[in-house]
Amino acid sequence: MAIDYSALPSPCFILDERLLRRNLAIVREVQDRTGVTILLALKGFAMFSAFPLLRQYLSGVTASSLHEAVLGSEEFGGDVHVYCPAYRPQEIGRLLDLGSHITFNSLSQWERYRTELQASPRAISPGLRINPGYSPVTTELYNPCAPGSRLGVSATQLGEKLPDGIEGLHIHNLCESDSRALEFTLRLVERDFGRFLPALRWLNLGGGHLMTGEEYDLEHLYSLLRDFRSRYPNLRLVLEPGSAIAWRTGYLLATVLDIVPTAELPVAMLDVSIAAHMPDCLEMPYRPHIQGALEATSGLPTYKMGGLSCLAGDVVGDYSFKQPLKEGDRVVFDDMIHYTMVKTTTFNGINLPSIGIWREDDRFELIREFAYEDYRNRLS
Ligand SMILES: Cc1ncc(COP(=O)(O)O)c(C=O)c1O
Repeated sequence: MAIDYSALPSPCFILDERLLRRNLAIVREVQDRTGVTILLALKGFAMFSAFPLLRQYLSGVTASSLHEAVLGSEEFGGDVHVYCPAYRPQEIGRLLDLGSHITFNSLSQWERYRTELQASPRAISPGLRINPGYSPVTTELYNPCAPGSRLGVSATQLGEKLPDGIEGLHIHNLCESDSRALEFTLRLVERDFGRFLPALRWLNLGGGHLMTGEEYDLEHLYSLLRDFRSRYPNLRLVLEPGSAIAWRTGYLLATVLDIVPTAELPVAMLDVSIAAHMPDCLEMPYRPHIQGALEATSGLPTYKMGGLSCLAGDVVGDYSFKQPLKEGDRVVFDDMIHYTMVKTTTFNGINLPSIGIWREDDRFELIREFAYEDYRNRLS
């Protein structure tokens, strides 16, 4: 059943449960066919009201901060893999209590905390993040292997031997990537870090595997992972995607408040902010898809979409529509579930969009609304 947006609150992030289950079914298939473990990267998607569904398909989460580790442990359960670019002395104890695996970004951080880890009464498996010096990502902001990157230890820094006690390696160099990029990465890992692999317990291949994307070659992924596992039966292979889990699983519903004429295109002023509610559109940058809108086409009513903040660049566009937009019209941005809710701010004091779920039985459930207190509580 098509969603009737006119009856829903605006602005609102709407998770489409059916689409999420579709992605999760693919993720389960990958696990079943290859024996790898797939975790949810909370940094990309941490909508905990959806965890009961996710838990049916995934055995745990990966956390990049203490707060994510607490959320994963309290709301998701299962394995909590922890990786922070650097650990704070006042947080490490709590992380060692919560995590099942912990990855260190540098040799000095491992040395700094190894005694504490080895004294912990809990079994938590330590690993090291390696940097293969290759990433297919061309946007510098998202490239973990750019020259001078602070993320991970290079093969030359490691020398011939891993520090005693390290049980796993962690690598993250992909972003919305295909299986060919993973294949190339695995080849580099074997070439430059292969000497360590036979003695290790796990290899975490990070995120960025867009296995739920329409173009993704799943058969190739299956054979790649199976093949790698057969060469290293000692290794538990872990993947920790964020984007792929929530890829194209929902919307950001907005409403037109005004149409502002300018010397160029008219701007449709919305009740959302691009900067505060979908910042990747400006950071990447990219032009989000709007339902029913077309590429800018001469002869059709064409607009930029304007955000609610006073930031001059809080705009995205250009879009053509079959009919002119007017106050009160609904505008639905597609694919607004990953890296949105986790990145929102209350910049300008703008209220956060509500959060809802379009259930599999075609019922809308409003999960959360925000208010003045949410803005105030972030300040002092
Ligand atoms: C270490 C690590 N793991 C996993 C992810 C999730 O990546 P993605 O959401 O692209 O799958 C990221 C994203 O930045 C990351 O830095």
